[in-house]
Amino acid sequence: MTDAPRMLSEPESYALLNDYRIPVPRHAVVHSADVAITAAETVGYPCVAKVLSPSITHKSDAGGVQIGIHNPAELRAAIETIQSTIHERAPDAEITGFVIEEQAPPGLELYIGGKRDPAFGPVITFGTGGTLVELEHDITMRVAPVTPEEATAMVRSIRHYPQIAGYRGTEPLDESALADTIHKISTLFINRPEVAELDINPLILYPDGLCAVDARILIRPYAPAPVTSRPPLPQDLFWVSRIALVGASANPEKIGYIVLRNLLSFTGTVYPVNPKGGEILGKSVYPSLADIPERPDAVIITVPSTIVPQVMRDAGERGIPLAVIITSGFRETGEDGARLEEEIEGIALEYGIRYTGPNCLGMQVPRLSLNATFDPKSPRVGHTAFISQSGAIITTLVDWSLTEGIGFSAVFSVGNQTNIDFVDYIRLAAADDYTRTIVLYIEEIRDGRRFFEEAAKVTPVKPVIAIKAGRSEVGQKAAASHTGSLAGSYEVYEAAFRQAGIINAQNLSDAFSLAMLLGSEGYPKGNRAVVISSAGGFCVLASDYAEQHGIRIAPLSDTLLEEMNAFMPHGWSRQNPIDMVGDAGVHRFALTFDALIRHQDEWDIAFVISVPTATLDPVHLATEMARFSRHTEKMVVGCLLGGESMAAGVRILRDADIPNFAEPEDAFRAAGTAVKREDELEKEKK
Ligand code: ACO
Repeated sequence: MTDAPRMLSEPESYALLNDYRIPVPRHAVVHSADVAITAAETVGYPCVAKVLSPSITHKSDAGGVQIGIHNPAELRAAIETIQSTIHERAPDAEITGFVIEEQAPPGLELYIGGKRDPAFGPVITFGTGGTLVELEHDITMRVAPVTPEEATAMVRSIRHYPQIAGYRGTEPLDESALADTIHKISTLFINRPEVAELDINPLILYPDGLCAVDARILIRPYAPAPVTSRPPLPQDLFWVSRIALVGASANPEKIGYIVLRNLLSFTGTVYPVNPKGGEILGKSVYPSLADIPERPDAVIITVPSTIVPQVMRDAGERGIPLAVIITSGFRETGEDGARLEEEIEGIALEYGIRYTGPNCLGMQVPRLSLNATFDPKSPRVGHTAFISQSGAIITTLVDWSLTEGIGFSAVFSVGNQTNIDFVDYIRLAAADDYTRTIVLYIEEIRDGRRFFEEAAKVTPVKPVIAIKAGRSEVGQKAAASHTGSLAGSYEVYEAAFRQAGIINAQNLSDAFSLAMLLGSEGYPKGNRAVVISSAGGFCVLASDYAEQHGIRIAPLSDTLLEEMNAFMPHGWSRQNPIDMVGDAGVHRFALTFDALIRHQDEWDIAFVISVPTATLDPVHLATEMARFSRHTEKMVVGCLLGGESMAAGVRILRDADIPNFAEPEDAFRAAGTAVKREDELEKEKK
């Protein structure tokens, strides 16, 4: 068997589909016009004649297909036409025979395909088919295995689904046969690892049944990837207490100095290592790892790349289980770097060391005052674990989070992910009681299948939000030179995220808005909202944003309205959004909160939108909002809008774990995404 990929012939493709009980046209393989005429008696008229030639992939383009053949004379003429056209258009193509097949009656032309993604494995695509497949681009994708339920969801998710369900009096088509075929194609990909690509176009759907009229299947000899076994990541990573820094430097311009300076605040012990010995920043320096009196829990490495293998060996000899390799100059720089990276991976496997990087910023665990990076800023303590493939995005976000008052349970830079990867960190964050939400910045996932399977276990328990870079082709190239990534298709990532329950954020701001909301309030129990505001304009805007993002402005009961009549000004709007009127003081807000607490069964999310006014003290309002939140199980979202005058109020909300948004639309978008995810989780439970 050669290693070259091979396209199956039409009859071979039909045979494979037949194995999975996918209906194909009645057909026969013939080598002459006379035999074709005999075969057509069994196949039936009208029939189609197709050329068989190993060198012709696109038969129609080469003139190798004749349709609408109604009798033996037309069949003979069709075969002659095919022979002469092929002779003209592809003179070197060898004609090995013809396929005579029944002409499937017209129906809805659909497409089912599959391919093996380098990261995620088999991926199944379904959508509208025929010649307009690219133009329509009405497709949906899932990572295999696709369950029967997911197959049905795929069918229902395309824009043209009404044509399947029955549109304007047309007969409904066989939806269950279609979903069943998607499921079977997924099974075929799982069972037959040599199938590299498969396209059925068109798959014709009828009111009763379907037929795979044209199939293109590419076979590639399969070689299973070697399985590498690594020791588990130390679960007590959040509680490291002795850290060595190899490459500590007295030169303030060097990374080894900046990291040491950051480590000075660490609650545990730090051992700087440099062959020169002496003292740096008041700390005794050890000439080597072997000289440190007790075994460190972790080693941070800031020596040049060529020295890293030796440091890793020394760490292995010292029995250190964890390394953070900040050094760059590995796979991301080319072949020599890739070899060096393989060398350190070999050493790590030999000694059972787990390491993050190389080519990373390091890690930060604010609750331990641990900043093992060269980021000059240390984040505040909070409940979001941020795992990022870009060091620069970490430094930017940490800087921004300090002014926004957002904190982190941990910040991990994964770098080249040679050993510890996203999956390890997700598991670690999932098991950490301190972490309530996990945010990922991803350029590339190395082992997509493992990522997908592990993330799916975490998302029902803890929200995972991802920003996937490299949506554009140019972006993918940039990622490749940044961390040596070979990012796959963005659509495959989107599909995998959806299936694993990962929320796909469009940008960093959306990701952190959502983390703030979910980290402080969890998932809302439904999409019924009340909006409380003293600004009429924002009441109108809020209604628009709600509709746009799938939030329902709940009608208020007569009893609730009656209670509110007692303290609202005469002639108030008596509806939701609740316009408190411009002169509202905190007292009116507080009485409204009380009424809403008594009627909690009427709503799921309360948006409190406030603007700077002379009658309203933001600190007092924030304190009342904190009380409101304490007395309800429902989600309370703050929108204290404005600048400096609201800052003290916003701080109170942060301390009370109430998310605040400076832009109301961001609040509705985040809540809408959270509601959608909660709905999906509920469906999964059923
Ligand atoms: N053990 C301990 N210390 C050693 C050893 C050893 N075996 N060998 C040398 N050292 C010392 C050096 O003497 C030096 O200390 P000194 O200042 O007292 O002389 C120190 O280690 C550092 O070595 P230098 O040769 O001075 O290296 P330099 O500091 O210039 O660079 C560094 C090292 C920072 C690791 C560099 O190679 C590098 O990789 N920089 C880029 C880092 C980076 O950008 N990482 C990725 C970031 S973010 C992302 O996500 C992509």
